[in-house]
Amino acid sequence: MRPPPVTAPVRVRRAEVSDLDDLVALEESSFAHDRLSRAQYRRHLDSDSAQVLIATANHRRFLGTAVVFFRRGTQVARLYSIATKPEAQGKGVGSALVEAAEDLARSRRCNALRLEVRTDNAVAIRLYERLGYTRIGSYPGYYADGADAIRFEKRLA
Ligand SMILES: CC(C)(COP(=O)(O)OP(=O)(O)OC[C@H]1O[C@@H](n2cnc3c(N)ncnc32)[C@H](O)[C@@H]1OP(=O)(O)O)[C@@H](O)C(=O)NCCC(=O)NCCS
Repeated sequence: MRPPPVTAPVRVRRAEVSDLDDLVALEESSFAHDRLSRAQYRRHLDSDSAQVLIATANHRRFLGTAVVFFRRGTQVARLYSIATKPEAQGKGVGSALVEAAEDLARSRRCNALRLEVRTDNAVAIRLYERLGYTRIGSYPGYYADGADAIRFEKRLA
């Protein structure tokens, strides 16, 4: 049966242990390489240097996730991963997750958010550019399958 359409506003909250099944399933359906494992997600839930965000709507239905990393000694946060369930794509879930990651980075006194994206991921690149990210570098062979990456950055006010 098809899930009901996303009709309610998208909300973003911190992930909990009870989200692990959804997180791992989405990771496996979204990425062929460089995946986060269940154990890695579990560690990130308890880590001070990572935060896993969950987007929901319509009675807490799981729609997507983003993972943000923080490192000591730098005010640059990193959007390590972002994914929206296929049936919820194109409805603002990814935008809400990026904006929540920016708010989180600001709350941790970061002045920039960076991310890498595959050069062939046109949807993601358009999303980041629309939200004010600019290209700051290119990395040939960055991913496990040899694909190239572009690094984007947004300065946070
Ligand atoms: C990249 C990704 C997270 C974007 O999530 P999203 O929830 O679709 O994001 P949004 O709805 O906020 O915006 C996506 C843009 O693509 C368009 N779009 C995305 N999927 C679409 C679809 N199925 N049909 C029509 N338009 C679509 C949206 O209209 C929007 O366009 P705009 O930027 O010109 O306004 C999502 O496509 C995804 O999970 N991709 C697979 C994993 C991935 O590649 N992650 C990024 C790694 S860097």
